[in-house]
Amino acid sequence: MAKYDYDKSVLKGLTTKDFMNQVKVRQSHIDAGSTDEPKSVYGPNIIAKEIHPEYVEGLIVKKIPTPAGCVYIVAPAKEKGFDELPPFRAGQHVTVQLDMPDKYTKRNYCISSAPSAAKGEHGFYQLVVSDHGPGHASEYINNTWQEGSIIRFSAPAGETYYDPIRDSRDVLAIGVGGPSMALCYDIIDGNADVNLFAIVLIPMPALLGLTGIYQDVADKSGGKIGFIPVLLNGEADGVEKGPVTAELLKEYMTDKETGKLKDMTVLLTCPDPICSMIEAELKKLGVPQRRIRKELQGNEGSVFEIPSYPAKRAVKQYSLKVWARGECTTVTCDSDKTIASAVEGAKIRLKTSCRSGHCGMCHTRLISGEYYTPESTDGRRQADKKFGWIHPCCTYPLSDMEIEVFPER
Ligand code: FES
Repeated sequence: MAKYDYDKSVLKGLTTKDFMNQVKVRQSHIDAGSTDEPKSVYGPNIIAKEIHPEYVEGLIVKKIPTPAGCVYIVAPAKEKGFDELPPFRAGQHVTVQLDMPDKYTKRNYCISSAPSAAKGEHGFYQLVVSDHGPGHASEYINNTWQEGSIIRFSAPAGETYYDPIRDSRDVLAIGVGGPSMALCYDIIDGNADVNLFAIVLIPMPALLGLTGIYQDVADKSGGKIGFIPVLLNGEADGVEKGPVTAELLKEYMTDKETGKLKDMTVLLTCPDPICSMIEAELKKLGVPQRRIRKELQGNEGSVFEIPSYPAKRAVKQYSLKVWARGECTTVTCDSDKTIASAVEGAKIRLKTSCRSGHCGMCHTRLISGEYYTPESTDGRRQADKKFGWIHPCCTYPLSDMEIEVFPER
């Protein structure tokens, strides 16, 4: 076999000098080219932008006060150039931007209306904002959002939805209304071929009337939807009482004919620490992790309660140097508050979506300092950890720190 096995006839006439000149020839072609930046417009990018716009502005067309908070009907804000709302999957949320007097922050609210109701120019989302009392973002929303208000939010996102390729057709939804209501409507619309059983968590007896809406969808579902209310505090006749234990779960997850546990996908749509407690009960029953879909909506508990928290458990204040677009702001951050909350307190508009460490939207560069990220909310890739990137939505300072954030415009 020849040392260089190729057709040498194509090189006929070319000399070594020609080869040596190639660099010069190429450079002359580059120099003769246009200096305009190439414009790349790809069809899939245009569609992706329509389906997942960076943000949407919506008009509140109806505000309905309820004993537990307020229900908002949100239409596209046509005067702001939004003719339609982006589509969503039952169970997804929007992240609402809140410019509060003392901070710029965001909160996630699940869309509790039918995905089909969002379509077209008359489409709408229904958002339920439960009252969590003074000082919470929900108090600010329910006091300030009125009919006619324009609100700004992200395109729908989140993982707590039913996927026919991935999930069992028998679905158990545990939590408060939003995500499972949207799935109920999808079932009634014939868009989701699912048998849904909902364990509806009710905080107190006075709110038991809220289950009327489940009764309504169950009646229309032809046997595909069932539910029970579980009272978390107080007592009422004929109602299961919380907490949600393995024993209670077993009762509703067992196939009455075979006596075996059904293979169910479980959608956990409640805040922590309730969510983690129920997950632990599901594990006791042997429910595999791949069947549990949950989405934390921000860490509600105290970081000091987490056993792996490394420092002495007392509130300390640390200084954070925050770089954003070349400018440095210094803020203080209590050791039991997330870095995101301190940055937002300085009215820097941090990009966030899940606010629970998993989506990567708040991706931030660590310049110096020590920090703590709970394992349960540490969704960073290995490379991010290695090269000094943090998710401030679920990260707490353990020393003074210097970081660089990439805020919204
Ligand atoms: S907002 Fe999702 S990781 Fe921080």
